[in-house]
Amino acid sequence: MLNDLVVRNRSYRRFYQEVPIVYEALRELVDLGRLSASGANRQPLKYIVSCERERNAQIFANLKWAGYLPEWGGPEEGERPAGYVMVLGDTTITQSFGIDHGIAAQSIMLGATEKGLGGCIVASINKEGLRQVLAIDPRYEILLVLALGKPKETVVIEPVGPEGDIKYWRDGEQVHHVPKRALAEILIE
Ligand SMILES: Cc1cc2nc3c(=O)[nH]c(=O)nc-3n(C[C@H](O)[C@H](O)[C@H](O)COP(=O)(O)O)c2cc1C
Repeated sequence: MLNDLVVRNRSYRRFYQEVPIVYEALRELVDLGRLSASGANRQPLKYIVSCERERNAQIFANLKWAGYLPEWGGPEEGERPAGYVMVLGDTTITQSFGIDHGIAAQSIMLGATEKGLGGCIVASINKEGLRQVLAIDPRYEILLVLALGKPKETVVIEPVGPEGDIKYWRDGEQVHHVPKRALAEILIE
């Protein structure tokens, strides 16, 4: 089951925008972040969620999508995320968040997959822009934005070819292909 969830938990960047995500679902996902491992159990992460159209649009305007697809300007209106979880670091607890946000993000994305949602971890953020539109207090460092929705694209895992290219690509049918290194390459024996 976990294997299935991990395989299905791909990065999706096009969604059925009209399919809403309810606030309670985002709340449940944040609870998975809450229960995740934390360095020295400091638990410095805080979250802001959004599932409301206007707020979603303000968040979307501050994100950058798919660096390996420079000809694509990101999801068009109608294919944008229906909800977001913003992962923040509370600097009054610590100045250094280690890998806590990565671990929490994965818990949340797996939980979203289990709910039939999909999404993308986004670190390319116009942080000052996002801070402004959401009036985020300076005590919080903006760490990640998790974009969520009902996926509208197919993502296929491919082996990394002999040339070693790890860049994802889209084919003529807009299917997204993501190369993954072989187990024999990454498991050092
Ligand atoms: C820490 C982190 C930051 C990421 N930031 C972005 C981003 O800013 N924009 C984006 O489109 N994808 C982003 N991604 C998604 C990666 O591009 C994606 O994980 C990678 O292409 C592999 O695809 P997969 O998630 O389906 O395995 C990020 C992923 C991680 C883990």
